[in-house]
Amino acid sequence: MNDGSVERLLDQLREIVGAAHVLTDADARAGYEVDWTGRFRGVSPAVVRPGSTAEVAAVVRACGVAGASVVTQGGNTGLVGGAVPAGGELVVSTRRLDWIGPVDAIGAQVSAGAGATLAAAQAQAAAAGLAVGIDLGARDSATVGGMVATNAAGLNYLRHGGMRRQLVGLQAVLANGEVIGRLDALAKDNTGYDLAGLLCGSEGTLAIVTAVRLQLVAPPRHLRTALAGVPDLRTAVLAVASLRDAGVVVEAAEAFLDEGMALVCRHLAVERPLPPSPAYLLVDWDGDVEALATTALGDALVADDPSRRAALWRFREAHTEAVNRAGVPHKLDVSVAPADLDALVAALRPLVAATAPGALLVVFGHVADGNLHVNVVGPPPDDDTIDDAILRLVAEMGGSISAEHGIGTAKRRWLSLVRPPAELAAMRAVKQALDPGGLLNPSVLF
Ligand code: FAD
Ligand code: MLT
Ligand code: ZN
Repeated sequence: MNDGSVERLLDQLREIVGAAHVLTDADARAGYEVDWTGRFRGVSPAVVRPGSTAEVAAVVRACGVAGASVVTQGGNTGLVGGAVPAGGELVVSTRRLDWIGPVDAIGAQVSAGAGATLAAAQAQAAAAGLAVGIDLGARDSATVGGMVATNAAGLNYLRHGGMRRQLVGLQAVLANGEVIGRLDALAKDNTGYDLAGLLCGSEGTLAIVTAVRLQLVAPPRHLRTALAGVPDLRTAVLAVASLRDAGVVVEAAEAFLDEGMALVCRHLAVERPLPPSPAYLLVDWDGDVEALATTALGDALVADDPSRRAALWRFREAHTEAVNRAGVPHKLDVSVAPADLDALVAALRPLVAATAPGALLVVFGHVADGNLHVNVVGPPPDDDTIDDAILRLVAEMGGSISAEHGIGTAKRRWLSLVRPPAELAAMRAVKQALDPGGLLNPSVLF
């Protein structure tokens, strides 16, 4: 687009959303042009902030006519560079779509605008004695629309599944400006293609989600947390299996290694809570403290009140910010069969030492899901040699190159390692059918 046509489009967008919601000033745009890690950046002609589904539709139509592609951005907490204007796209921010409806206590459901944060949805559910079945460390900024777009998973995946499992319905704007979807409370609807399920995990490449309808869950009644040192990740996985086999309702099971514990303690300026151990398991369960006797966990720290539980959780949740503090990370979010977790860690250490000598390796994650977050700090942000080595290793082990964060712009190069040509062709056919002009998130996924 030349300067004249960009200016004409911006004038139209000002007409649609109001001049105050078209940000063109470099300082105002800056926070939208870089991702949470600082690794992925771009430059956009403007950030557009629609306040309703109708405004999103009008924005998409105007951009379509002008041939201007867009990138959708929610809370900008995504970790694969998918929400920043990598190819000079206009940024469509959903943050003003932050309404939350009343909880339907009979159906245990709630509707929310795509820009509502997870924390806001959690608070609304809690006020009605219910809970959102999903939680993650970015809860105060991540939006429910972004979580649908990425099919976010988080800390309670082993108990309630990911975002797709919580999704009853949604409303979305297609690339042609048509509005699709429904937010009514139908628990069952088997009428053809599941478009909400398709959009979930589509990373903004097929439509802009403007509202979601979530199924809520009953909150745990006696939530307890234990933090224990373990010799390896296999012991952590077996402890979780013992709890499950004894009929204990496990709500979360997270693991991290001693390098991570040391980094987090330095970052938080606190003492180690336990003697050093090769690995640590943090587990949440709903029930009494005797449940732990079913496991081989030694001197675990156990907490049942919210503030002591939060103090234990801090050692796990502070990993992401502690890694960012150490430098711009290469974040690989991978999964393997739970039985292969120790083999993966054992292979990672020499691989990082050989490929990125002197780099910091921090591994943590959702151990019961076989999902490890592999963070390497040291190599320059635009040098993806270490990313390549780790993702090839994981693919050779039969794992996934993205367990929960998605492909974004960061992992496009490696998608063919895990998705065969026929599947990639089917995915491209879906993209072509719904967005033939490549208007929505053209730099993402493919
Ligand atoms: P953004 O970052 O704004 O966008 C992410 C992607 O979705 C982009 O491709 C964007 O274009 C698209 N998108 C956003 N909104 C829409 C919309 N309304 N319609 C269409 N496309 C849209 N993720 C997990 O899965 N599990 C975790 O445990 C987890 N923990 C985290 C902890 C921290 C501290 C941080 C920083 C991140 C964590 N994440 C986790 C990653 C991130 O929070 C999730 O991916 C989240 O779903 C992103 O939501 P967002 O609103 O910030 O989306
Ligand atoms: C987490 O589980 O904390 C995240 O997905 C964030 C990260 O990978 O750093
Ligand atoms: Zn995670």
